[in-house]
Amino acid sequence: MEGIIIKGIGAYTPSKIVTNNDLSKIVETSDEWIRSRTGIKERRISQGEDTSYMGIKASEKAIELANLQREDIDLIVFSTCTPDMFIPSSACIVQKEMGLKNAVAFDLNAACSGFVYGVDVARSLMKTNNYKNALVIGSENLSKVINWEDRKTCVLFADGAASIVLSKSENEGIIDSICKSYGDNGEFLSIGGREIKNPFMDESISKYQYLDMDGSEIFKFATSSVTSSIKDILQKNNMTIDDIDYIVPHQANVRIIEYVAKKLKTSMDKFYMNIDTYGNTSSASIPLALNEMYNKGILQKGQNLLLVGFGGGLTYGSSLIKW
Ligand code: ACO
Repeated sequence: MEGIIIKGIGAYTPSKIVTNNDLSKIVETSDEWIRSRTGIKERRISQGEDTSYMGIKASEKAIELANLQREDIDLIVFSTCTPDMFIPSSACIVQKEMGLKNAVAFDLNAACSGFVYGVDVARSLMKTNNYKNALVIGSENLSKVINWEDRKTCVLFADGAASIVLSKSENEGIIDSICKSYGDNGEFLSIGGREIKNPFMDESISKYQYLDMDGSEIFKFATSSVTSSIKDILQKNNMTIDDIDYIVPHQANVRIIEYVAKKLKTSMDKFYMNIDTYGNTSSASIPLALNEMYNKGILQKGQNLLLVGFGGGLTYGSSLIKW
């Protein structure tokens, strides 16, 4: 049987640590409020490193761990909602800077579900187009789209990147993945675009440039989508929650995951969380957690892992993986 495995993993986070107390100096908030409502204690914030740069640093480590040459990479899927620029894509910047000359490269935006979408897209293309080694990157520079005067959002989001190398293998690796989208409710989480302005319009159309979120609507969406995403993929693969060693969820709020654990009648120990030190890094959060698990020696061969993402769009999805 031919499968697709995670052969390498790597991460990069900015060195600048911003604590809750640091934030309480710029907006009316407190360490107690942020910790009790979200589980976040501190986060990493860019000091000029942009999205592609962080993605490159993470990818260098992932390719090295996979023990591959750069010319072996034939596909780059770069998940981000905060690219360096519209064109070239962050994936093409990675290709140029890393000399990945044999790769097809493009960006994908599914907000915080981006990494799970990226794994699904890369896996599908590897099956149909015979790519052998794919780089899937989740990288975000959210601090550049945050309104640092809005306490409802600036305490939640942060910067960072992580990459995996997916390779064809005789082992099973990715068992299944399911992605879903609910565009009808997209207004609950947005990052604005540029104003529409040209010499042929009477009046320009301006847009709010920053990240805007209806927190309680996203909270409701997150709890129901994560619960049903986990149930659906388990049912489709004739598995129960007891067959899963670890669930690695998008790290948005520890209370969302506590709610889901209760709904699924399972322990919080089944969920790997590191939101306390990194905050919400959108499409980077799941691979950042996975990378930390790898470095701590938590991941053991043969374990069943379930990655589950949710976020803007609205989008959600999960990947079932045999490590
Ligand atoms: N510090 C202190 N007080 C605050 C802060 C803050 N940083 N932010 C809001 N408050 C105040 C509010 O103004 C409100 O005050 P009021 O009652 O006087 O109006 C009070 O705290 C309660 O606010 P709520 O919004 O009801 O707080 P809630 O308990 O719902 O927590 C939170 C807010 C943390 C945002 C929560 O709704 C949440 O986590 N939602 C999900 C968000 C999420 O997961 N987003 C990421 C999605 S992934 C992606 O694609 C990017």
